[in-house]
Amino acid sequence: MLDWTDRHCRHFHRQLTRQTRLYTEMVTTGALRFGDQARHLDYGAEEHPLALQLGGSEPEELAHATRLARQWGYDEVNLNCGCPSERVQRGAFGACLMAEALLVADCVRAMREAAEPSQAGQAALPVTVKHRIGIDKEESYAFVRDFVGTVAEAGCEVFIVHARNAWLKGLSPKENREVPPLRYELVYQLKREFPQLTIVLNGGVKTNEEIAAHLAHVDGVMVGREAYHNPWLMADWDTRFWGEAADPASDRDAVEQAMVRYMAERHAAAATPWAHIARHMLGLHNGLSGARRWRQAWSDHRLKGEPPESVYRHAHRGAPAAA
Ligand SMILES: Cc1cc2nc3c(=O)[nH]c(=O)nc-3n(C[C@H](O)[C@H](O)[C@H](O)COP(=O)(O)O)c2cc1C
Repeated sequence: MLDWTDRHCRHFHRQLTRQTRLYTEMVTTGALRFGDQARHLDYGAEEHPLALQLGGSEPEELAHATRLARQWGYDEVNLNCGCPSERVQRGAFGACLMAEALLVADCVRAMREAAEPSQAGQAALPVTVKHRIGIDKEESYAFVRDFVGTVAEAGCEVFIVHARNAWLKGLSPKENREVPPLRYELVYQLKREFPQLTIVLNGGVKTNEEIAAHLAHVDGVMVGREAYHNPWLMADWDTRFWGEAADPASDRDAVEQAMVRYMAERHAAAATPWAHIARHMLGLHNGLSGARRWRQAWSDHRLKGEPPESVYRHAHRGAPAAA
């Protein structure tokens, strides 16, 4: 998620779940061609499994970006066909690509070729697509079925489906994450029609019970905003959904202390201000009494000259209830 799931956010989420796949912010092919590659692509080893999401619509450019993803050791490369923003549309990618399934198929073919390993014995990097169930007033199941069918013929085996239409005009991207209504049934139907494909449902999922209910119909669930705003939701995913014997964090305080250590490390390594990291964990105590006070300390700009250990102490002076 743009501006949210940067490497610091992902490091934080890794304190809560080791197994769940994490996604980068969308990176455009142009930014990788002309921008600072390391700034866009560098990450910590603990972030695996990690997918790089790309924005673009030119097969050659996407192939170039996919080669970079392979060199940098990502576990998946994902093409964004779901973003409705006008800026993205001007670049002719994101959700407007759903109207051009044949072009998306060409993109996927080029990406898959670039994803082939350079040495025998290595696995190819999986190429996946994230998309909507339709665009504008095109609400028929046939539209999304034909899109998936065409792109699957080019070799894409994993589809992450945001279960609401993208409106290319008249709504801001923020509004378009709430309206029009979610239609999960169409995503379930895709799984029934294409049982050989991996279908991952996305949109509006807020609880572990909802995740479990969707998993009866599809192969996976992607959680966006709720994971960001209420990250403790993820704390038992490794045992609950991945069959692990234990979860990584025993309580919220252990996570916070690990983040304080990380803030000190990043400051030493790259002079990263702690506030750039702390902003991603402000939802950690959501729903608990004292959460507001705690959050205020970690977002208090007057403390920005202090080391993170002292902000931690400040945040716990009126300590939130035990985790
Ligand atoms: C701040 C923000 C940034 C987002 N950036 C991206 C993005 O870069 N790529 C993408 O595929 N979706 C992006 N999305 C959409 C989410 O991935 C997700 O599809 C959408 O929010 C619905 O899922 P949710 O209800 O679980 O949040 C973004 C959402 C938000 C709130």
